This record gives sequence, C-alpha cells and structure tokens, in this order.
Amino acid sequence: MSWKDEYKSKLCSMQEAVSHIKSGDRVVVTHACGEPSALLDAMVENAERYENVEIVHMVAMGGAGYCRPEMEKHFRHNSLFLGGSTRKAIEEGRGDFTPVFFSEVPDLLRTTLHPNVALMHLSPPDAHGFCSYGISVDYTKPAADVADIRIAQINKNMPRTMGDSFIHVSRLDHIVEHDTPLIELQPPQISEVERAIGKNCASLVRDGDTLQLGIGAIPDAVLLSLKDKRDLGIHSEMISDGVLELVEAGIITNKRKSVNAGKSVVTFLMGTRRLYDYVHDNPAVQMMPVDYVNNPAVIAQNDNLVSINSCVQVDLFGQVVSECVGLRQISGVGGQVDFVRGANMSKNGRTIMAMPSTAQGGKVSKIVTLIDTGASVTTSRYDVNYVVTEHGVAQLKYRTLRERARALIGIAHPDFRPSLIEEFEKRFKSKF
Ligand code: COA
Repeated sequence: MSWKDEYKSKLCSMQEAVSHIKSGDRVVVTHACGEPSALLDAMVENAERYENVEIVHMVAMGGAGYCRPEMEKHFRHNSLFLGGSTRKAIEEGRGDFTPVFFSEVPDLLRTTLHPNVALMHLSPPDAHGFCSYGISVDYTKPAADVADIRIAQINKNMPRTMGDSFIHVSRLDHIVEHDTPLIELQPPQISEVERAIGKNCASLVRDGDTLQLGIGAIPDAVLLSLKDKRDLGIHSEMISDGVLELVEAGIITNKRKSVNAGKSVVTFLMGTRRLYDYVHDNPAVQMMPVDYVNNPAVIAQNDNLVSINSCVQVDLFGQVVSECVGLRQISGVGGQVDFVRGANMSKNGRTIMAMPSTAQGGKVSKIVTLIDTGASVTTSRYDVNYVVTEHGVAQLKYRTLRERARALIGIAHPDFRPSLIEEFEKRFKSKF
C-alpha cells in the first residue's frame, strides 16, 4: 500500500480518534503551544466513556478541561511541569506532580511510564509521507517511539520544522485532519526593572557566545540588550519571537558555534505565527528531541555556552528556588538544571540566574536569609554561578559563604539590605 493510501485508511473523525483511549490508559500529550487542543477537547467531551485515564504532559497552554473538579473520576493529571490551568488540580490533590529534569522525560517514558497512547499534533505529510512534529519535538518524538498507539491531529497550520523532527505516516495509528490556529504566546510587556536586568545579563555575554534563554519578559529584555553583539548562537530548550529580531538584524548567525554551526538548535517553540512561519521548512533551525538538546553532555560541547534562567528565591548561600513558593509548587525544574550543568561544563561557559530583586509588588525580597519553609531547592549552591537583579551582578562560584552573602546583599533591593546585613553580621560574626 502506498503511504497515501495508508494515510487515507487511517483517517477518522475526532470522536473515533478519542474512542481508542480506554479506561485506565496512560496518555502522553504534546505540550506547550504544540498541544493538540482539539483532540483534548474531544476527549473531555467524551469523559463519561472513561474512568481513571492518566494524562501526562509538561506545560499546558490550553484550558486543561480534564483538570476540572467534576472530571476527577475520569481523568487524573500527572504533571511534569505545572501551569496556570493545571496548578489547582495538583494543589487540591486531584492530580500529581513528578519532579523530573526535562532531559530525562524520554527516559521516564521509556523506563517507567510506558504510555498506552501518544496524543500528538503534526504537520501534513510531505512528498515522502513524513509528518513533522512541528513546534514541539521535545518528548513527543520519544513518546511516539514507546507508546502502544499514536493518535495524531494533522494541521496545515503546523510548520514543517527541520531536524530530528519527523514521523512517517506508516507509524501513525489514527489520524484526524483539523486545521485550527496554533496556540500563540504574545511577546510580554517589558518593565523598567526587567530592562535593567536584561542590561546586567548582557554585560556577561560576549561576541560569539551560544545562548540558552528561558521564557518570559527577562529573556526578551536580555535579547533587547544584545543589539551590539556579533555572531551569537542558539542552543536552547525553547525560543520565542524575541530571537527573530536578532536573527533578522544579523546578530544571531550561529557562525561561531562549536557544534551544529550555522544552526539554531531548539526542542520546542512558544511564540506567535511570525515565529511559526519563520521555522517552516527552515534548515537554519534544527528541532531535536529533548534528550539531545537538554542533555548536559551535549550542551557542554558548545563552547562559550551562556544559560539564562529565572527563579523565585535565592538564599545567602546561593541556593536557588525556581519552582515553588514555600510548599506551593508553581512550575517545575524544566531545563534549568540541565542547562546550568551543561553551561558549567562548557569551555568558557557561564550560567546566570536572573530575577527582579523583589516580588509581590515590592513587598518581599527574593534574596533571603532562609528559603521559605517547604520550598525545594532547584539549583544547588554548588551549581550556581552568576545571580543577576536590576541592581547588578553577583558572582558566586568558587566563593566562600561569606563572600557569596556579601555579593548577594549587594544586588538585593535597597529596602531589604539593612535586614539582610543584620542577618549577615549574626551569621558570620563579623561586620558587613
Ligand atoms: N516570594 C513570594 N512569591 C513569589 C516570589 C517570592 N520570592 N517570587 C515569585 N513569586 C510569585 C509571584 O508573585 C507570582 O505569583 P502570582 O502568579 O500569584 O502573581 C508567581 O510566584 C510567579 O512569579 P513570576 O515572577 O510571575 O514568574 P515568572 O513567570 O517570571 O516565572 C519562574 C519565574 C521562576 C517561576 C519560572 O522562570 C520557572 O518556572 N523557572 C523554572 C524552570 C526553568 O527555569 N526552565 C528553564 C527554561 S524554560
């Protein structure tokens, strides 16, 4: 049978596609902006059919209807990274959180979770019958490799991304054609504080560096401050629209990368249609599975790798809390520690934790003497290096506890410095 005939034989309605999910199944779903929202909506509409279906994914950008209280009997979410629409279900005990490095999610699926179903969102097949995983290759490709059945929403709006980003029609089990617009993430508003953080981070970036940037206003503010640099490269878990401007201005060229020269290497994308159009059929962007992109040993092959991530709290020893506010889990480790470790092993690598000096409208300091009760440390004091706020840069690696504390107090918000200094003098039995 030709792949075209095979494709036709697997076409079905949305209702039929989700009828292949069975009670008790474990379903792994493509995440972030690549989420197959139409399949998820159909699954939730048919909730009465199922009991105890486990839904596994990282960040949800859609409504996550399966997390609603009335869905408890039908679905249970196993979250690998919490988002706005899934947080409440975990807090209320109707779902679970699994702490896992993003780089290890494929291994988690292979060795421990053994999913029954992979729910995916793909581009239409090319002339050879290959569909692209589009904007979310990360753990979707590994999930497709190990799931018992593969159900795909094929969407003309999904870009055909290059790299290790393809699955042949013959490997799909059930196909639904549905051309909805992809989920978009609009560029954030950048405040004066974030602009200052961006400038301070940019002071640590040199011509020819390869960058990893997280998501949100701080990474975008960093990008704004890089307009006088030359020949930057990208090896990053994700990118958003902010990167495009620097590509168009000829600042991101990937020319001086020590591996994958000439190419931005990424595992997922979150942005607007402009970004999705840019990556379509574009060999300058290599989309690879997350156990390649986020593998610290691969990251480390990039000389001059600068990783920039954000966090919730840093204590005076340099312990970094990035995913909890006290006992409350708000996100996950994502690729933070993967990149911190990779950057630490990279020749001339640098790792930066960038954050505003205060939270909650200036009411609390993010630099604290003790981290909040119940909070988990994400990046340890052994791995941390630069911490950046709007007030400057603190360099912590290979420095004593006393030196670290002094450097961190130096970049804390001035309103909180007196109390931090008081604690410093008590703890270190010496004048600040
Ligand atoms: N004390 C009390 N509350 C705090 C706080 C602190 N020190 N720091 C943050 N918060 C609260 C904020 O007020 C906000 O609350 P709200 O949602 O009720 O408004 C919430 O925590 C989120 O903070 P915010 O600053 O808006 O988060 P963000 O969107 O800038 O994300 C992280 C910051 C740290 C949560 C996010 O970067 C993350 O999850 N990092 C870990 C994963 C990672 O680094 N991945 C790698 C790259 S993708």
